[in-house]
Amino acid sequence: MICGRHEGEFNRYANFMTTQSMPDLLDLPEPLPLSSLKHWTLDPTYIFLNHGSFGARPKAIASAQNRWRDEINARPIEMLDRKLKGLLEEAKSTIGGFLSMTSENFGFVTNATGAVNAVLRSMRFEPFDEILTTNHVYNAVRNSMRHLIERAGGTYHEVNVSFPIKSPDQVVEALEGGITQSTKLVIVDHITSPTAIVFPVDRIATICKARGIELMIDGAHAPGMLDLDVESIGATYYTGNLHKWVCAPIGAAFLWVSNEKRENIHPTTISHNLDQGLASEFAWQGTRDISPWLSSKEAIEWMADIGWSRVRAHNHALAHWARHLLSEKWNVELTSPEDGSMIGSMATMPVPEALYRAYDDAEQLRDVLYYEHRIEVPVMEWNERWWLRVSCQMYNTPDDYQKLGDVLTRLVEKA
Ligand SMILES: Cc1ncc(COP(=O)(O)O)c(C=O)c1O
Repeated sequence: MICGRHEGEFNRYANFMTTQSMPDLLDLPEPLPLSSLKHWTLDPTYIFLNHGSFGARPKAIASAQNRWRDEINARPIEMLDRKLKGLLEEAKSTIGGFLSMTSENFGFVTNATGAVNAVLRSMRFEPFDEILTTNHVYNAVRNSMRHLIERAGGTYHEVNVSFPIKSPDQVVEALEGGITQSTKLVIVDHITSPTAIVFPVDRIATICKARGIELMIDGAHAPGMLDLDVESIGATYYTGNLHKWVCAPIGAAFLWVSNEKRENIHPTTISHNLDQGLASEFAWQGTRDISPWLSSKEAIEWMADIGWSRVRAHNHALAHWARHLLSEKWNVELTSPEDGSMIGSMATMPVPEALYRAYDDAEQLRDVLYYEHRIEVPVMEWNERWWLRVSCQMYNTPDDYQKLGDVLTRLVEKA
């Protein structure tokens, strides 16, 4: 399985295995082909544990994007006019095949926030309407909901899902308890941002459908992290980023809309193709750089050559292992079931409370880890506690988490 050109990666793992003691039950995944940082655009002189925020790209995908940009700059009219429809359809055919979406039901957007705004701005809210979500919601999405529902005189409602969490039932019960006669739209994360939990979206969809409530799933992290079949979930709307776990260039995302609502949803920028169907309207939102959208096809194919299920399994196993390592090292609680059934390729841990008195805020600790220890990892305040979230992508090695564990342990000892 380990061939010559990946010896470097293998040695790093082998080294680790001989020098560390670890919980026996957890198996480390084998390193994958092309996982060495020499194949990625990241600066190899620091440890990057925040794939979740903006993703990271293989060099091959950065080159693919440059080739598309060269083509566009060489023949702007041909690429952005004559050939546009065909080029986008070709990219969409790969993306739709990968995520089980019919081409007419989805369009490109720049990011998940834009997709949420397109849906919210296309809907008409009345003063008695409510939008329902959970306290794990991404703040930009929270702001979008609040702004648009409150402008219409309606109500924004957030239910609490406790964290640490023991079971998906807690998510379902909290949302069910929050639904009222006025609930018009539910927006939930597929994978939450601060807490890195996989929500049971199929069960939430069943509940919303039974009550005739529209459901938007914010799957910003899901494509590439989960084995995703968008249409089978049964939501009304689904958005996903391709620039996170698909490793496409920044600015690649999609909005999928169910058949029943396809005619009602428009991009936030209304342009030439108004009322020509969802796919056509989203294909032209004014002049813009379409290279991230076109390169998404190459990104999907690049990972497919390694094997998407292998990549997902590797990243999940590493996340499962890393959170056990760190939680044990720092003597903090696991935040979701021990078997890893509620996480994907990220895990959130509480920051040891001794550090609260050593730093002004979570951001200062994050910056100390980055500037003084060359580890990029998000540390954030949420629900009045500090949390640290690690991401696990194929270029990460066990040693990365070991180093983070040791550095934070030393900071705790100094605090
Ligand atoms: C759950 C969730 N939703 C939405 C977003 C926003 O993504 P973008 O900035 O690409 O719009 C993020 C970003 O991390 C996220 O985690």
